[in-house]
Amino acid sequence: MPAFDINSTGESVGKVFADKIKGKTVIVTGVSPGGFGADTARALALYGAKVILAGRSLSKIQATADAIHKEIPGADLKELVLDLSSQNAVRQAAEEVLKYSGPIDVVITNAGVMGTPYEKTVDGLELQFASNHVGHFLFVNLIMPKLLESSAPRVVLASSVGHYWGPVRFDDYGFEDGKTYDKWLAYGQSKTAVILHGVELAERYKGKLVVFSVHPGGAVTNLSSSMTKEDYEKFSDFYNLDGTPKGRLGS
Ligand SMILES: NC(=O)c1ccc[n+]([C@@H]2O[C@H](COP(=O)([O-])OP(=O)(O)OC[C@H]3O[C@@H](n4cnc5c(N)ncnc54)[C@H](OP(=O)(O)O)[C@@H]3O)[C@@H](O)[C@H]2O)c1
Repeated sequence: MPAFDINSTGESVGKVFADKIKGKTVIVTGVSPGGFGADTARALALYGAKVILAGRSLSKIQATADAIHKEIPGADLKELVLDLSSQNAVRQAAEEVLKYSGPIDVVITNAGVMGTPYEKTVDGLELQFASNHVGHFLFVNLIMPKLLESSAPRVVLASSVGHYWGPVRFDDYGFEDGKTYDKWLAYGQSKTAVILHGVELAERYKGKLVVFSVHPGGAVTNLSSSMTKEDYEKFSDFYNLDGTPKGRLGS
């Protein structure tokens, strides 16, 4: 197998695994144009997967679907509206998935927000924790019967280096109802929770399910839309030149 590096693209990796991708049904969350999810969906479609494009905005899902169809006219795509910040919406989306015929082979929980101002969801949770972790945790658990119908199911959870930024604050995951909110500790908490979700899934479904928690690398996407000049400065102090963190940000 060739080594992949900073120049590897979704397409170049997909080419190597084309025989494994062909014919698989894959859900990708967070597929808005310009992000990792859209590019992942494109590469999967290119190599013959059926791709379920999941996101909270139907118009953005359609924009990505249109772009893929334009390039790959025979692409097998399906749209799924999924707002991870609402547990009710997650349950509705999962119900829809459970009605699909055939197994789900892979779910890639890519959607996320980062460094957003303090906000509470309809369920009363801090937004980053709710969107990045709780929504995906609920969605993956609810569609588990469909995953287990597959002969080789996989769950791929997009994390980050967030576990260097902050742990899960089990005693105060809501930052005292926002009073002590720190947007970077909150992002770190949410991504650490994503990793722990992966560890526990792998343990509970040992031998039945393969689970990956993946740091996708750094790229300028819409994710950084909440970042200020000060945030960029803080980050340049936090990382070594090779992109590895220098240490922990929070405690
Ligand atoms: N970019 C990086 O350098 C980097 C580094 C480490 C980890 N990551 C991780 O990689 C993943 C993808 O990030 P990206 O850089 O591609 O960011 P992006 O372009 O902002 O994409 C994030 C996607 O998540 C969706 N999303 C946000 N909140 C949602 C919700 N409540 N329900 C459903 N979908 C929601 C967004 O939809 P809308 O367009 O509707 O907002 C968008 O489609 C994220 O999990 C991120 O934490 C990225």
